[in-house]
Amino acid sequence: MSVIVVTDLRKSYGDLKAVDGISFVVEEGEIFGILGPNGAGKTTTLEIIEGLRQPNGGAVFIDGLSVWPKPGPIKKLIGIQLQSTSLFDYLTVREMASLFASFYKLRLTQTELDSLLGIVGLVEKGKARVRQLSGGQQQRLSIALALVNDPKIVFLDEPTTGLDPQARRRMWDVVRDISNRGKTVVLTTHYMEEAEVLCGRVAVMDQGKIMKLDSPANLIKSLGAKTKITFSCKPLLAKEKFQEVDGALDVSEVDHSYKVYTAKIQTCLLGILQKAADNGATVENLTVSGANLEDVFLNLTGRGLRD
Ligand SMILES: Nc1ncnc2c1ncn2[C@@H]1O[C@H](COP(=O)(O)OP(=O)(O)OP(=O)(O)O)[C@@H](O)[C@H]1O
Ligand SMILES: [Mg+2]
Repeated sequence: MSVIVVTDLRKSYGDLKAVDGISFVVEEGEIFGILGPNGAGKTTTLEIIEGLRQPNGGAVFIDGLSVWPKPGPIKKLIGIQLQSTSLFDYLTVREMASLFASFYKLRLTQTELDSLLGIVGLVEKGKARVRQLSGGQQQRLSIALALVNDPKIVFLDEPTTGLDPQARRRMWDVVRDISNRGKTVVLTTHYMEEAEVLCGRVAVMDQGKIMKLDSPANLIKSLGAKTKITFSCKPLLAKEKFQEVDGALDVSEVDHSYKVYTAKIQTCLLGILQKAADNGATVENLTVSGANLEDVFLNLTGRGLRD
């Protein structure tokens, strides 16, 4: 069942079309990602769906209810982590959670508070003040706050931006856990790795438009399943030698390192080894890597995801 239906959504700021006629649906229980560089329109899209910014055109339905012009009724269905949440530095973690619960006219018991903080791994920090938390812990707290009303759909706007790799992985576990609890998750990110490991489907967004929408695997497959083989060899051979290899599509050599793109991995690998041997050379430092979502984005826009 589709829990979110977005049709021809539009939002302009003056002449700037921040969201330029996008349509998609989100199915119940999925982790849906919006991937795009700075300024792509991710936050604007999310905040229109959440009922926080009014669109200039198009429609959004959550659970069959139209969000606009009256977003009130959908508020109890959703939990929101904003891109920049201002937490109250001098309140404790538990006080913050109780405060947020009171916005929904809820009074959480100690057990309920602990179970909420348990989801994001902050039980032992319950009595710590917000300002004493690390960046990653504050980000996890803001996710706990998005869960106080036990929402059906959770929106996370760049939940891991600014976190170190370890904290990012910790956050991925939290997101998966939320999903395993049966909630639908919609998140934005500009990390292709994050979209790849977390999301069932990804909308690739750029300049207010959705360029492509599919599972990470299908997006990558749409590149023609190109694989990159990187290696060096001793003694060095002219790169033209490797161009002769069966299955080699594109060959380059930079700083004594060869890159060969292929769609026929086995044939090409064997061919490279054979070609080197035929010329009295040995292959060294050989790695094989698949295309990733960064390559998909480059292919669609001619630009990288980071600016
Ligand atoms: N309130 C506003 N007034 C004017 N322009 C805005 C406003 N909010 C966003 N914009 C512009 O709309 C475009 C899309 O912004 P948005 O915040 O949706 O991008 P984003 O994809 O979330 O980017 P980021 O990855 O940096 O968070 C940007 O060019 C931005 O400058
Ligand atoms: Mg944003």
